[in-house]
Amino acid sequence: MAVGVFDSGLGGLTVLSAVAARLPDVPFVYYADSAHAPYGVRDAEDIFQLTEKAVRHLWDNGCDLVILACNTASAAALRRMQEAGVPDGKRVLGVFVPLIEALTERDWGDNSPPREVDVKHVALFATPATVSSRAFQRELAFRAVGVDVEAQACGGVVDAIEEGDMILAEALVRSHVDALKRKMPTPDAAILGCTHYPLMQDIFQAALGPDVRVLSQADLVADSLADYLERRPAMAGGGEPRFLTTGDPDQVSVRATQFLRRQMTFTAA
Ligand code: DGL
Repeated sequence: MAVGVFDSGLGGLTVLSAVAARLPDVPFVYYADSAHAPYGVRDAEDIFQLTEKAVRHLWDNGCDLVILACNTASAAALRRMQEAGVPDGKRVLGVFVPLIEALTERDWGDNSPPREVDVKHVALFATPATVSSRAFQRELAFRAVGVDVEAQACGGVVDAIEEGDMILAEALVRSHVDALKRKMPTPDAAILGCTHYPLMQDIFQAALGPDVRVLSQADLVADSLADYLERRPAMAGGGEPRFLTTGDPDQVSVRATQFLRRQMTFTAA
């Protein structure tokens, strides 16, 4: 079965590129809910309903395992979907935990009690919905003590990226970093807690300065997925790679091609 990768739009392609490079023999089906992006300004119920619909579509079309390559969907929908119970043989995973395990120096699935870690001051950049869910702080509190987190809701950045307006996206990133630094002048690490933001990683790093370690999810999620599939090989293999969108396939293909700098062809979901 192909592995499904879901995002509200193009951001999850940053995760897809890393997992496809790490697992070249696994076919992936990418699903962009472009008609409803951005998710980050929607309320939790709305995000849950949209995410569940997309995940069911991927399950029904042969993906036993679906990765929510979207922090906003992971924050609003993952726990609720898992608690409600998923169909037999199906799985859904999010992108938060690999990142937090890396930040707190843990191996995959290490569920030992929270402990002190090296990093003390963390800046979190994410969508308004992810910030208001406090899901990141909750997952962190299960694993670490004494970490001060300052969250900055980066309104407008996803819209600008989806519209291909990188000049606006850059200006917004700089202004969100300035706002964060007024609250936390010297973070040790910064989390790019939205899968769209790695497309702006150089700008975040430049605005934060060279002493701040910027963590983004793509490679961390790729390592963690490789580990997961090694233990459950039946979840991957077979099926054709595809790129699906609920938006206009021609327009989404053009933007995706610009971002990834290789030809991408989306079809209607
Ligand atoms: N890329 C997404 C995330 O990781 C969603 C952005 C949005 O649709 O607002 O949060």
